[in-house]
Amino acid sequence: MKYFLDSAKIEEIKYAKENWGIDGVTSNPKHVKRSGKKFFTVVREFAETFKEDDFPISVEIDPHIMKAEKMISEAKKIAKLSHNFAIKIPCNEQGLIATRKLVEDGIRVNVTLVFSTSQALQVGRIGAAYCSPFIGWQEASGVDCSQFLSDLVKIYQNYEFDTEIIVAALRNGKQIANTAALGADITTAGFDVYKESFEHPFTDKGLKIFQDAWDETDIGEL
Ligand code: E4P
Repeated sequence: MKYFLDSAKIEEIKYAKENWGIDGVTSNPKHVKRSGKKFFTVVREFAETFKEDDFPISVEIDPHIMKAEKMISEAKKIAKLSHNFAIKIPCNEQGLIATRKLVEDGIRVNVTLVFSTSQALQVGRIGAAYCSPFIGWQEASGVDCSQFLSDLVKIYQNYEFDTEIIVAALRNGKQIANTAALGADITTAGFDVYKESFEHPFTDKGLKIFQDAWDETDIGEL
């Protein structure tokens, strides 16, 4: 199970890579806005900072682009900046046309904003590197995505698609664990979501019990 960090902040990405062993990064215009930097400044920082590593980083094209031809030319320009880049293309008809052509031309694509199994099926058929179903957005509005996700994993197994499933926009540890239980390849979530998923109040409580016992014991010499 691979962990990607959903972020455009270089310092937190470096921290999570070094200390948690995260396997890659996903970014989007919202994350770049939060970084307070210019979009292409962040993209260049991604390219420069991790140029020695094999570290997949997904970068979005201008979301206003609605025509496949323009998506292709924009994606190619960005892909040239780093061997690590996968280009995020929206999951609509024009985006899927662009993806198919980009895949033929050897560009890694992360098809983003996937909300149904029929969308995901075409993503797998045309051989995108990644398919990103946005589970968190749906579950935030009360939808249980377990069946969707398990169907998606099954479909990809049935046809032996090489596309990896990145379950996106996860908001808590339960969603991360559920994603793993259902057999998806990758999760992507924010820094705080992962950090909280490593903690548990009973771990803290247990630690306190052991600390008290330690303090009331003659420890002796090692
Ligand atoms: C994934 O590739 C997306 O960047 C991400 O998961 C979107 O979710 P957000 O709402 O956390 O930005």
